[in-house]
Amino acid sequence: MDAASWDARYAERGRVWSVEPNPVVVETFSGLRAGTALDVGTGEGRHATWFASRGWKVTAVDFSAEAIRKARELQAAHAPGTAGRIEWVHADVVAEPPRQDAYDAVAVMYLHLPAAQRRWALHGAAAALAPGGTLLVVGHDTANLSEGVGGPQDPAVLFTADDVARDLAVPGLRIVRAERVSRPVGDDGAAALDAVVVARRT
Ligand SMILES: C[S@@+](CC[C@H](N)C(=O)[O-])C[C@H]1O[C@@H](n2cnc3c(N)ncnc32)[C@H](O)[C@@H]1O
Repeated sequence: MDAASWDARYAERGRVWSVEPNPVVVETFSGLRAGTALDVGTGEGRHATWFASRGWKVTAVDFSAEAIRKARELQAAHAPGTAGRIEWVHADVVAEPPRQDAYDAVAVMYLHLPAAQRRWALHGAAAALAPGGTLLVVGHDTANLSEGVGGPQDPAVLFTADDVARDLAVPGLRIVRAERVSRPVGDDGAAALDAVVVARRT
């Protein structure tokens, strides 16, 4: 989907994603001392707002202007005390790599791109880490198509934890977690399958 398609999707209805952060974001970053965070493909800003409400100074990037507008609204409504702590950036993360060596935490949540673009975006995300920084990549797993619910239905933009680990096989980065995780959705026992990768800059 291009930026115009995402704009249309976000304009269509109130809230597309939950206000609550993904549990893996909470699990991965809760124990870390607040520093600088980058949210790549922030959408409606739930993770950027979560980081900011825990004291982090956040840069949140999305190429959908409508997403950024809604993210600002979410911040104002749910975390008014964080004003000034999030820089909302309207940019294409494939065309404009983020600042290098700058962030203690980088989150890439459900950014589904064709493989070559994904690799490029993930290299940019990894290069954005400061020494000792932590990178989290989560997305709908390829197996979600046949064994899970929801998410993109185009296999070309899905990935496994192994795909991401291979993308991130770059000097100075250590993979500390790479697995498929089942995420309950709704009350009927249905689950989505996510690919989860955590890497640390050495
Ligand atoms: C599935 S949403 C996930 C939003 C958010 N990360 C979350 O978990 O709630 C993917 C987001 O990535 C953004 N996106 C997709 N491709 C992008 C690109 N090349 N540059 C910047 N943002 C992009 C879309 O506009 C959309 O908001």
